[in-house]
Amino acid sequence: MRPAPISRRRALGLAGLGTAAVAIGATGWLGGFAGYDGADAAAGRLRPAAAEPLRVPGVLASRGGRLAVELTAAPGATLAGQNTAALGYNGSSPGPTLRVRPGDQLAVRLTNQLDQPTNLHTHGMRVSPQANSDNPFLQVDPNTSFDYLYQIPPDHPAGTFWYHPHHHGTVADQIFGGLAGALLVDPPLGQDPDLSVTADRVLLVTDTTLNTGGHVVAPSAMDRAMGRQGELVLVNGQDQPTIAAAPGATQRWRIINGCVSRVLAIRLQDHQLVLVAHDGTFLPAPATLDQVVLAPGNRADVVVRPGPAGRYSLVADPVERGGMMGGGGMGAMMGGGTAPSGPATLAIMVTAGAPVSSPPLPAALPAETIPAAPATAQRQVVFQMGMGAMGPGGMAFTIDGRVFDPQRDDQTVPLGTTEDWTISNPSPLAHPFHLHVWPFTVLATSDGAPPLEVPQDVVLVPAQGWARIRIPFTTHPGRSVYHCHILDHEDAGMMATVNVVRA
Ligand code: C2O
Ligand code: CU
Repeated sequence: MRPAPISRRRALGLAGLGTAAVAIGATGWLGGFAGYDGADAAAGRLRPAAAEPLRVPGVLASRGGRLAVELTAAPGATLAGQNTAALGYNGSSPGPTLRVRPGDQLAVRLTNQLDQPTNLHTHGMRVSPQANSDNPFLQVDPNTSFDYLYQIPPDHPAGTFWYHPHHHGTVADQIFGGLAGALLVDPPLGQDPDLSVTADRVLLVTDTTLNTGGHVVAPSAMDRAMGRQGELVLVNGQDQPTIAAAPGATQRWRIINGCVSRVLAIRLQDHQLVLVAHDGTFLPAPATLDQVVLAPGNRADVVVRPGPAGRYSLVADPVERGGMMGGGGMGAMMGGGTAPSGPATLAIMVTAGAPVSSPPLPAALPAETIPAAPATAQRQVVFQMGMGAMGPGGMAFTIDGRVFDPQRDDQTVPLGTTEDWTISNPSPLAHPFHLHVWPFTVLATSDGAPPLEVPQDVVLVPAQGWARIRIPFTTHPGRSVYHCHILDHEDAGMMATVNVVRA
């Protein structure tokens, strides 16, 4: 009745499921969901004998100031080296990498071949939330197409962004199912900072759980309450791909945390990671770190200087996001924590060949200057989890005690003002706060972590803690959303609206 989740051991013998596994029953791809069964979670975590080299999702780049693409969301993507019933854009998970420049126009015709509504969000992009731009209130029904048009401002930062569905109620299922892609903004011609790297790679990390039939496994109510974490942690849709490198020849890796709920604490065995950009904007100077922590939705651009010939694991260490213990009532009954059982190997860097010497990184990077405008208003936002029949596991997931209502304006902000918001989180789980369109700087968090001091679009609010952020609402008027980027929580209602109005 409930096929066990696929294990790596079994995955080895599962080449070519063929069309039978891709065929979707009358009930659609959700009908293919089996009950969740965690019994195999720790079993058979073998590295495939012949790991594939990291694949590059097809790149579609703008020319002459415009990029027009068609994205078709449909089941039947290749994932973890198998033909599966997972979802993809244009048959691929992740979808194509879109490359644009500041000032460009990006036109996307989104065709929905799922059996449920979808839509598109350009995560982190500073584009209008209105009409057919980055409008999260749009709905694209099955067997219809919709034409999005994004006007990228000429002063848009150059960096790493991503796109994913945002139809309230199905976001977690669709991303866990495989729908996501990278969206890169390249610097205006001739303005690239000289990082002197020999490779510039996208590493889009997603997680999912597949059963032996190649179907995505549905989460239990408890998984949704905690935020589901897949058993397979994939990079560009691959299970532990290899990354070719030459000793000393530096590479830029654009790491995107596209997981539904999993926080990634990333390190590279025997190497340091030099952080040059975060959430699509450059840091003022490179920062050499042992580990980079990314909440769901965050991106880190790191420069890696490969050591002597050998194999080095890129690892995501387990991160405890909190637990339900002490949450009382149903929460206490659910018990448990959120940390995955052990580290997940994301990829293997295979270094070979003659040593190369790469020049050092520049001492300064083209960070954005943040206007020193003082905040003219303060607001409080509260992430809450409480008893309530309406949510998964009998829990209610709310902001300021209310579940999401697309019709309601939760915050009304005059265009042109800068505000300080305090996001507090009395709940026993950490929640990543994400605001569309208007990036913010973190002023402080309750865990005392030093703020990055560059604009970002997701900040992890510690359990029983808070984050204080400064938001310049100085760019686009319009209505959009802020929410928890544990997308199971967002789907359960932990989302609210902000309307930025011309004064
Ligand atoms: Cu990446 Cu509103 O989400
Ligand atoms: Cu949350």
